Amino acid sequence: MPTITYIQPDGAARTVDAEHGSTVMLTATTNDVDGIVAECGGNAMCATCHVYVEPEHLERLPAMEEDEDEMLGSTASPRKDNSRLSCQLEVTEELAGLVVRLPETQL
Ligand code: FES
Repeated sequence: MPTITYIQPDGAARTVDAEHGSTVMLTATTNDVDGIVAECGGNAMCATCHVYVEPEHLERLPAMEEDEDEMLGSTASPRKDNSRLSCQLEVTEELAGLVVRLPETQL
């Protein structure tokens, strides 16, 4: 089973099992990982599931769709080159071991 590691702004890290077909957002919320709000429930309409993907993992990610790109323009914490919406990242074997950092705030 793939794992995903979430790193809080204070550096605290937590690694959890992730089910295929789930998303990086759902894996966090179902495992009570702090720092992801996910107000819209995963529809790329709120930008409160913003994460920073560790740079060495960026090449493994699926390409960004236009709606995700647009929503990343309204994140509460600054958008960076490694910003993604975690609800748009489906858990696949390619993403096993993914490491993401949570932003300071989602709201
Ligand atoms: S949960 Fe709303 S954009 Fe990801």
